[in-house]
Amino acid sequence: MASTNPRSYEPTAPRKLAFIGLGVMGYPMAAHLALAGHAVTVYNRTSAKAQAWCAEYAASAAPRQAPTPREAAQGADIVFCCVGNDDDLRAVTLGADGAFAGMAPGSIFVDHTTASAEVARELYGAARALGLRFIDAPVSGGQAGAQNGLLTVMCGGDQDAFDTVQPVGMAFARAFTRMGESGAGQLTKMVNQICIAGLVQGLAEAIAFGQRAGLDMPLVLDVIGKGAAQSWQMDNRGKTMVADQFDFGFAVDWMRKDLGLVLAEAQRNGARLPVTALVDQFYGDVQQMGGQRWDTSSLIRRLR
Ligand SMILES: NC(=O)c1ccc[n+]([C@@H]2O[C@H](COP(=O)([O-])OP(=O)(O)OC[C@H]3O[C@@H](n4cnc5c(N)ncnc54)[C@H](OP(=O)(O)O)[C@@H]3O)[C@@H](O)[C@H]2O)c1
Repeated sequence: MASTNPRSYEPTAPRKLAFIGLGVMGYPMAAHLALAGHAVTVYNRTSAKAQAWCAEYAASAAPRQAPTPREAAQGADIVFCCVGNDDDLRAVTLGADGAFAGMAPGSIFVDHTTASAEVARELYGAARALGLRFIDAPVSGGQAGAQNGLLTVMCGGDQDAFDTVQPVGMAFARAFTRMGESGAGQLTKMVNQICIAGLVQGLAEAIAFGQRAGLDMPLVLDVIGKGAAQSWQMDNRGKTMVADQFDFGFAVDWMRKDLGLVLAEAQRNGARLPVTALVDQFYGDVQQMGGQRWDTSSLIRRLR
């Protein structure tokens, strides 16, 4: 399993927490909560991952594995979650074995999945009807951000629930910010993905052009990376794009899921996203090339 790099944590009162979904992101996020001194009960659909997590963090405050989301959520003050998409989120929250069925009135569900603003509002309403609270809280910063406990978290929901969650969630975050009412976290994440899509295509075109022109591209990136063309993508992905390495990072399948959410939201709010729609199709080409799990910087493969 992906390792977690412990960091220093601001002291907070120890809480009873649950974490649902120990994937690439959830596994280290849950680990930071345990290392910060909270009692964490975990649930993962594939139980071997939850077993491995409990074994790895046995020395921290009482790690426990539960067989269903409902049982994981029982007695927890805050239930964190990071699964794949809208349907996965409904599967772990609703129904007889869903987390909502186990949560006590007043407790808070915090969803870190990148999902639609619609499902966030739907679950916010379902939680309220049960006397529960719900925060949508997608993250940016990737696997490394999760492992280092330095994610950027964008939240939507009620201020009082956010105020309870924020100091606890800072165990895996560099910033944990309320953006507005329910759904505002997911909408902020969509803005983030729109920014990235066009930028990565521009970087891919620039690097492919420079390589055809016979330039020393690592040197070019070092030089222009100190000027106005600098970006996180250039700093963190430029040289691996030059070297044609994509077996890491944020998978194209996830990006297509995210751009699908973005384009559906734009249909509703009337925003025009011509470049984002085009880049979404380019990612479709990369999937056809077998790049479903390649990093999003693999857009350059279409240009070679
Ligand atoms: N990876 C990144 O760099 C990154 C960055 C920012 C945001 N995100 C977002 O974070 C979310 C998780 O990403 P990830 O990379 O951690 O994904 P992942 O490694 O595929 O993990 C997904 C987790 O969700 C669980 N899951 C999926 N469907 C489920 C269902 N129907 N019922 C119960 N559990 C279910 C999986 O359980 P199993 O172990 O049983 O499969 C696994 O624990 C996604 O929404 C992604 O877009 C990812």
